[in-house]
Amino acid sequence: METTLLLVKPDGVQRGLVGEILGRVERRGLRLAALKLMHVPRTLAEQHYAIHKGKPFYNGLIDYIVSAPVVAMAWSGNKAVEAVRQVLGATNPTQAAPGTVRADFAIDIGRNLTHGSDSAENGAAEVALWFAKSELQDWKSASAAWVFE
Ligand code: RTP
Ligand code: MG
Repeated sequence: METTLLLVKPDGVQRGLVGEILGRVERRGLRLAALKLMHVPRTLAEQHYAIHKGKPFYNGLIDYIVSAPVVAMAWSGNKAVEAVRQVLGATNPTQAAPGTVRADFAIDIGRNLTHGSDSAENGAAEVALWFAKSELQDWKSASAAWVFE
């Protein structure tokens, strides 16, 4: 069982794509464990993107993520990390497979609508960074047995 962090970045919220993105993951069969709309404090953005510090796109990336509200979600299930990243598509939207969120709705890499954790370890760490324990709901989905073998 994995938990992964999915962010709809400011462009996704501004463009009215929250429901579209959430719905695609929901229909995949993962379990929503937490959800909130928030303006990202710069300190949180810097912690979240610490691995990219020093890269040419880092400052623009931080400015982008704090520029307007984001929707943060935690999703749980077998292979949740891989499943969410598959729904989102490749980082660069023009290289993402058709049918993915980034291919269907984005063009520039710096406006690629979403973030998805890239490993089970990072998924757990990022969910703990973005959500207090009290914000995570441990509930059993009635459809789980029809999604997971
Ligand atoms: P994410 O973390 O957002 O899910 O995306 P990712 O793993 O596919 O990509 P990552 O390498 O972690 O990059 C994080 C975000 O930084 C921006 N980026 N810009 N201009 C560039 O070359 C560049 N490279 C990365 C993107 O917004 C990417 O999602
Ligand atoms: Mg990443």
